Formats: sequence, C-alpha cells, structure tokens
Amino acid sequence: MNYKSWTAIAVLAAAPIAAFADADEDALVVNGEIEMITQAAAPDHLSDVMDEVYSGWRFRSDETQALQMDDFDNPAMIFVDQAMEKWDTAEGTAGKSCADCHGDAEESMAGVRVVYPKWNESAGEVRTLAMQINDCRENQMGAEKWKYTGGSMAAMEALISVQSRGMPVNVATNGPAQSTWEAGKELYYTRTGQLELSCANCHEDNYGNMIRADHLSQGQINGFPVYRLKNTKLNTAHARFKGCVRDTRAETYSPGSPEFIALELYVASRGNGLSVEAPSVRN
Ligand code: HEC
Ligand code: HEC
Repeated sequence: MNYKSWTAIAVLAAAPIAAFADADEDALVVNGEIEMITQAAAPDHLSDVMDEVYSGWRFRSDETQALQMDDFDNPAMIFVDQAMEKWDTAEGTAGKSCADCHGDAEESMAGVRVVYPKWNESAGEVRTLAMQINDCRENQMGAEKWKYTGGSMAAMEALISVQSRGMPVNVATNGPAQSTWEAGKELYYTRTGQLELSCANCHEDNYGNMIRADHLSQGQINGFPVYRLKNTKLNTAHARFKGCVRDTRAETYSPGSPEFIALELYVASRGNGLSVEAPSVRN
C-alpha cells in the first residue's frame, strides 16, 4: 500500500492506526450445536494477496460476539420470526404465499443462500437473493416489489439465509457469471472519493488494524443480513457497501444497481469457504 492511502486512512482515524491486532482466536458455535467456519484457506483467486479469510465475527468484541452465539440472545431472530409469518401470508393478484409454491422454508431454502448471487439461466442475468425474492413477488405472486434494502426484504433474506447456517459459501466465479464477477473485482480495487480509497485499501491491506474505534475486518458478507447494534435493525450487504463508499467521501452507487450486484458477487466469492452466519450481529 502506498504512502498516500496510509495518510488518507490516518485522516479518517481519530488516533493514528494502532498496532496490528489480528482476528482473535475465538470459536463460533451457535446454540451449542452449529459449528461455524470463521477462518478458511483463501480461495484460489486470492492466493496472491492473502493466505486466509476470516469472518467479521472474529474481529468483534467478546460482548458483541456473545450475542451471535445463541438465538435467544440474537436480536436478529425477531425479524426471522416476522419473515416466517410473511412466508405463510398470501399476497398479490395471484393470491399466493411463498409457502404455497415453496412449502416449508426449512426444506426448500436449505443451501440456497450458499450459492447467491448466482446466474439465472432463463433471465440471462446474475441474481442476488433480493432480486430473486422480488422476481417471485412481482411475477409469481402479482405483488408489489419490496424496497431493495428495506425491512421486509432484509427479514426475508435472513429467513432464507438461516436455513444455510454453517454451510460454506460457494458462489460461482466462472461460466456465465464471470464477466459480472470481473466487473465486481474491478470496483473492489478502484479508489473512490476525496480520500481515494478502494475497498481493498481497508479490507485487504489493513484488516486487523483499528480505524476510528473500529477493528477493521476483511469486509466479508457471509454474515449478511447483519443486525447492527448501532441502528438496531437488520442491514443488507448493499446498505453496508453504500455506507463504506460514503466513508471515502465518494458519490455512491445505489443499492440494487448493476455495480453493487457485481460487487456483491465478487465480495461473496472472497468468502468462499466461510460458513453462512446470517443473521449475524455487529456493532
Ligand atoms: C407461484 C409460485 C411462487 C411463489 C408464490 C413464490 N415463488 Fe419463489 N420461485 C418460484 C419459481 C418457479 C422459482 C424458480 C425460478 C427460476 O429459477 O427462475 C422460484 C425461485 C425462488 C428462489 C430461488 C431458489 C433457488 O434455489 O435459487 C427463492 C429464494 C424464492 N423463490 C423465494 C420466494 C419467496 C421469498 C417468496 C414469497 C415472497 C416466493 N419465492 C414466492 C415460484 C414461486
Ligand atoms: C476507509 C476504510 C474502508 C473502506 C474504503 C471500505 N470499508 Fe468496509 N468497513 C470499514 C469499517 C471500519 C467497517 C466496520 C468494521 C469491520 O467490520 O471491518 C467496515 C465494514 C464492512 C463490512 C461488514 C463486515 C461484517 O462482517 O459485518 C463490509 C461487508 C464492508 N465493509 C465492505 C466494504 C466494501 C465492499 C468496500 C468498497 C466498496 C468497503 N467496505 C470499503 C471501513 C472501510
């Protein structure tokens, strides 16, 4: 990393960057039974830049970590319950619920989150989970689309993701998804804003360091949607991307834009091998 981006990060930080303090050594077992992979060999496409990938959970304080270790303590589980009700509720001109077509979420949605975003052959596009959910609402149910980063969408993403907890993320980076993946990679390494910082400047070059009062992680999305103590709600990956870009004092792409869809695919692929942890808890 060059001198300029170090300066930019130092400008952001209230205090100079603290000594390197890696991911901690804690193990994440949810409800005493779901063993999460929070550290894995970096996927091949990252082998030039890092040896290992870590879940963001490994960079949080013990208090924040504890909230994710038991569903009774995890504030995100309320939203999963709310989404379960929506799953069973008929809406739209077709008078159908998600359950009418998909049956039990526990069965039909197991393993789904692991491979998203993924190429949809009939639509000829890479689809995020949010896009797929809205496609079902619009075209299968005749219902209104949900706001891309809104509460209903985040909750439904959490309900679907929870059926894959513990399973390793495994998004495809090649085949028909490859050009989208490459566009996402380019965005990840592009410096933006007055501070001229890329995602990589913080989450690849500086993870483990302190920035303001925050312990920088690798910016993985295996835990999304995430319950944040800061705003006491579920946050989607695109909302987080938007916040991070804004912190570089840049104009940001909007949630659901082709740019953020590509970025989501690329960032997801950096976490291939880490367990789906959603809904996770962060500060
Ligand atoms: C009328 C039937 C119908 C309803 C109602 C419906 N879906 Fe679907 N859903 C489908 C079909 C068909 C597909 C496969 C579409 C495709 O591959 O293009 C699908 C695919 C999906 C997938 C992707 C699964 C995978 O393995 O990739 C998700 C997630 C999903 N639906 C969620 C929902 C949610 C959430 C709701 C309720 C808000 C819902 N669906 C309502 C018919 C329905
Ligand atoms: C100026 C430094 C900086 C830049 C640049 C930056 N981020 Fe972040 N990001 C942070 C901080 C600080 C946090 C909160 C602590 C943490 O989880 O790393 C964070 C958190 C995240 C998280 C949440 C991780 C989790 O486990 O909850 C994701 C995802 C993320 N960033 C993605 C990105 C992406 C994608 C980009 C580029 C568009 C980006 N960030 C650019 C500083 C940055």
